[in-house]
Amino acid sequence: MITVDDLREHPLDQVHRLMEPGPVILVTTQQHGIPNVMTNGFNMMIRHVPPLIGCTIGPWDYSYSALRETGECVISIPDRELAVAVVDIGNCSGQDVDKFQEFDLTPVAAQQVQAPLIAECFANIECRVVDTTLVGTYDLFVLEAVRAWTDPSHPRLRMLHHRGDGTFTCDGDAIDLKDRMHKWQYLL
Ligand SMILES: Cc1cc2nc3c(=O)[nH]c(=O)nc-3n(C[C@H](O)[C@H](O)[C@H](O)COP(=O)(O)O)c2cc1C
Repeated sequence: MITVDDLREHPLDQVHRLMEPGPVILVTTQQHGIPNVMTNGFNMMIRHVPPLIGCTIGPWDYSYSALRETGECVISIPDRELAVAVVDIGNCSGQDVDKFQEFDLTPVAAQQVQAPLIAECFANIECRVVDTTLVGTYDLFVLEAVRAWTDPSHPRLRMLHHRGDGTFTCDGDAIDLKDRMHKWQYLL
């Protein structure tokens, strides 16, 4: 029988490398008419309807104050073709750099929020902050998706997932188990 003696202890400060958060996303904000974008790996869906998304954005990010002040953002979902830019966007701050210009991103006017969509991303979700209760403790913003867009000319390719150590996996083959989801057909 296997015991923990047969296993290797994993450092607690690296548990995030075992747990898969949501995909790596870009979060756009707009403050005083100036758009900005940051990279985010710590995010998750919270609820189907209304669609709620949890997103950890720390006070070290310039985007944090924009999000607090405006209460609005766009979640833009890149595919692997943008991987290098996605990392570089997370290595600099909108306080110093116009990241839309620096990374050749095309801003597209959103409908419900001031923050722009990103044309190069295959999906964009306009969001409003609906709960800041956990921001003080965990930098965790609860966002409600108020509008969502996909680009038919830019099919969903392969989303990026951060393994927490600077390496990334990309979505691979899909496994279709819809028929086995008996209890959850209404969600499919
Ligand atoms: C792969 C990757 C994932 C990241 N995930 C997060 C995250 O989940 N939350 C966060 O606050 N910062 C995260 N960052 C760091 C921000 O993207 C970074 O601080 C960025 O410079 C903030 O930009 P801003 O100052 O223009 O807001 C991540 C960076 C990278 C490269």
